[in-house]
Amino acid sequence: MKALILAGGSGTRLRPITHTSAKQLVPIANKPVLFYAIEAVRDAGITDVGIIIGETGDEVKAAVGDGSAWGIDVTYIEQDSPRGLAHTVIIAEPFLGDDSFVMYLGDNLVKDGITALVDSYRQSGANAQILLAHVPEPQHFGVAELKGDKVVRLVEKPKEPASDLALVGVYMFDKNIMDAVKAIKPSWRDELEITDAIQYLIDQGFQVNPHIIDGWWKDTGKIGDILEANRIMLDVLEPRCDGTVDEESELHGKVVIEEGARVINSVVRGPAIIGENSVIEHAYIGPFTSIYYDVTIRNSEVEHSVVLEKSSILDIHGRIEDSLIGQNVEITRSNRKPKAFRLMLGDSSKVDIG
Ligand code: G1P
Repeated sequence: MKALILAGGSGTRLRPITHTSAKQLVPIANKPVLFYAIEAVRDAGITDVGIIIGETGDEVKAAVGDGSAWGIDVTYIEQDSPRGLAHTVIIAEPFLGDDSFVMYLGDNLVKDGITALVDSYRQSGANAQILLAHVPEPQHFGVAELKGDKVVRLVEKPKEPASDLALVGVYMFDKNIMDAVKAIKPSWRDELEITDAIQYLIDQGFQVNPHIIDGWWKDTGKIGDILEANRIMLDVLEPRCDGTVDEESELHGKVVIEEGARVINSVVRGPAIIGENSVIEHAYIGPFTSIYYDVTIRNSEVEHSVVLEKSSILDIHGRIEDSLIGQNVEITRSNRKPKAFRLMLGDSSKVDIG
């Protein structure tokens, strides 16, 4: 069995972060979300992994390399523009051949992994297995309608959802999906939808098994989802300190201090993680915060937020909360007159001043 991990797409719902970088590389508890997908397929015993890349391909390649860090073999497959999930199966045909495979959307996070799900698919002999989860707003997903334990209909982002069962971005297929992805037509958003290809399998009488997952799952395509995923994954980290914490500082609860990080005269209240070579000085880091590497936070308070690499937050009065701060961002206080907010923000930035 092979795996096809999708790390292309344009990440429009995460701008401006995705103007310059891949949405699949946004860190959750200081680990790119894509790495959780790679670990999940590796843990399921799959070593032959194709990764679909788009505009941000170079960045993905630099982060993942040849896969040897995980003991897997990576083949990169380039998609010229985001033409849909089913389109990635078509361009992956030379890699997939006649093998069964797991298709895994690189911005999806399944907390308990997929090992048991892959095993049950292998044993079932079904042509496809889809994972479903109950969600509060199904209209934002592919939605399944079941009759007993059979899937009768799948609709992509329906205005009036027939159920609250969303398609999770992890699918298992045998070779018959190849005819299906070639048979369907582009949707209203001009994409070849994998949802339509699975519907085609159902219509042709192939066996498509639904599996409702009870563990936690998230599509990390929006800021609120990233903060939630960060909360969930921070909570399962084992506390450790590989950096330095001076005597004036206090660490409470589950806190991870990565190598080379320094905490000086500060309070860190977990669950929280401070990344490699970051400096936290005269500062407060509150629960559910991930500070990535080479970050400086001085005379400031940050809580329930994710701060990406090489950024600095200096001398800010008032607490920064519920925020996703990109790479190389500087947030500082200055004594310049007149007293004013001076901003240089990328396209689609969001600033909420309370
Ligand atoms: C895609 C699929 C959708 C699925 C979702 C899961 O949506 O088209 O059926 O429910 O992933 O993350 P997209 O992220 O392309 O809007």
